[in-house]
Amino acid sequence: MKILGIETSCDETAAAVVEDGSTILSNVVVSQIDIFAEYGGVIPEVAARSHLEVMMPVVAKALSEADCTWDDIDAIAVTYAPGLLGSLLIGTLTARTLAILYGKPLYAVHHLKSHVYANWLGEKAPILFPVLALVVSGGHTQILYMPAHNKFEIIGTTHDDAVGECFDKVAKILGLPYPGGPSIAAAAASGDAGKYKLPHPKVEGLDFSFSGLKTAVLRAVQKELGLPISHPSHDLKNHLSAQQVADFAASFQKTAVEILCEKLSLALAKYPDIQSVVIAGGVSANQKLREALSEAYFPEPKLSGDNGAMVAAACYYEIQSGVMPVDPYSLNIYPRISIES
Ligand SMILES: Nc1ncnc2c1ncn2[C@@H]1O[C@H](COP(=O)(O)OP(=O)(O)OP(=O)(O)O)[C@@H](O)[C@H]1O
Ligand SMILES: [Mg+2]
Repeated sequence: MKILGIETSCDETAAAVVEDGSTILSNVVVSQIDIFAEYGGVIPEVAARSHLEVMMPVVAKALSEADCTWDDIDAIAVTYAPGLLGSLLIGTLTARTLAILYGKPLYAVHHLKSHVYANWLGEKAPILFPVLALVVSGGHTQILYMPAHNKFEIIGTTHDDAVGECFDKVAKILGLPYPGGPSIAAAAASGDAGKYKLPHPKVEGLDFSFSGLKTAVLRAVQKELGLPISHPSHDLKNHLSAQQVADFAASFQKTAVEILCEKLSLALAKYPDIQSVVIAGGVSANQKLREALSEAYFPEPKLSGDNGAMVAAACYYEIQSGVMPVDPYSLNIYPRISIES
């Protein structure tokens, strides 16, 4: 079964063709990172307009690279939630129109489900259930209990910032480019991870909090520079040496990875029936996290961020689980909605 997956929830315009939920026939991603690096973050209206410009060429390229015509496509899958409203609108309107035009069944897929299913892409040994999924992305930090395909229970979630968001905010303080994850990882390579001691948040159970860690970095930078806490955060980068930036990046990255690993260990202790652990979302590209969790499944690094292949994979397992197509004339989008709904 060949599924065309379409993804536009944030700042990547993506389409892919995947066969039977695992074999990637094409995977086209056009990122808007170059536009938003200049601003230090995503501007929703600009993101929506950029999706509109490249959406159809991206779909056409996904089909041609997969060597497919519309006759070969069995279903269309699209991200309907959660994400930026304008961005979701472009992807879903495109998918709805194509489904009507070519008479294909249309499936609406939750974005976090897609991130989790990136782990099923590619040839690998079967992932055994129950699965524990750690979702670490730009907008979410959650631990999910997955007893079977397409069944999710949220057993831990962040009270405030997501870990990817924390990487992005700390990068901004240090004067490193957006997105913060890759730039912090790169700067950390020449830093001393033991140089600055940063606190682990005291959050009960399997929940997370990352806003305090960002503030802890801010205060530690101000202290290191001998500046008062009233000193504006946007100016600190002008006072930091390259070595101080590297040391802060390494110390922060180490602390963030430790926090994720601690909560994962707690979850495994609480759910002893777990057979496999999968890591999902943009932060799963992080090399230190991969080294720390060597027993877990990770997507290929290029499949950690937003892409259409993971949407098609999630859709395949939805179909296997008996999920029915949606009406292309009346598909709703949801900027915020839980994976459990
Ligand atoms: N190597 C890395 N190390 C740490 N973080 C990373 C790395 N690469 C990317 N990230 C982070 O991943 C995030 C982007 O991931 P993703 O695209 O999954 O998020 P999103 O789609 O914006 O949010 P969500 O999936 O929650 O809707 C950014 O915060 C980015 O800094
Ligand atoms: Mg994402």
